[in-house]
Amino acid sequence: MKTQIRNLLSCLAIILISSLLLSACAEKQLEELIEQQEEEQTETTEEPVQPQEPAVAALPGLPDDVAGYTQWLKLNAEPIPPAPGGDPHNGTKNVYVNKTREDIAPNGEQQFPYPDGSIVVKEAFRPGKDFVGLIAIMRKKAGVDPDHNDWEFIEYVRNASDADFTVIAKDGVCWGCHSRVEDIDYVFTELE
Ligand code: HEC
Repeated sequence: MKTQIRNLLSCLAIILISSLLLSACAEKQLEELIEQQEEEQTETTEEPVQPQEPAVAALPGLPDDVAGYTQWLKLNAEPIPPAPGGDPHNGTKNVYVNKTREDIAPNGEQQFPYPDGSIVVKEAFRPGKDFVGLIAIMRKKAGVDPDHNDWEFIEYVRNASDADFTVIAKDGVCWGCHSRVEDIDYVFTELE
């Protein structure tokens, strides 16, 4: 009888110990699970928020198709200084095109003419001014002016950084001069 009781007691003890161990183990697992979840949560909240691609608005008074032109391919490597002895587009200039280097210079050499749909934008900072005061645009539109390689010319100016651009001249005034570089599709500035 005594042995039976002892057996029973030791059996109970074993059950008790193992259930204690089990619950301790379960508790530990639970803790780990919670920790893991917390880590995951903090990870997701700390994940850098992808900045929305800013929709670049066109400068006031300019057409939408030249919005964000400063992110286009720049033809000149260095800003073009004012031409000595009178500059038709007076100022320090940069010239951009809405094409990739690969589009207009496959194999590294610039090809002419420019493809249909090309837009060339020249910005000029007037001497001593820190804002763009002149925007000259050439747009290549198939059929629009076969006599001048289908370029449409237009130029805008403003005299304050918060003013709207207004049209100052177009087409005829421009061809006269740009015809000098007819052999390179009327665009003076070549890709550098
Ligand atoms: C008296 C000459 C002359 C006249 C007129 C002229 N341009 Fe230009 N244009 C230039 C020269 C030179 C450049 C080369 C960059 C520079 O030195 O400004 C140029 C550059 C440009 C560019 C940048 C692409 C390029 O050819 O290098 C655009 C766009 C442009 N002109 C548009 C116009 C428009 C639009 C008009 C008419 C409203 C016009 N131009 C009238 C001489 C002229």
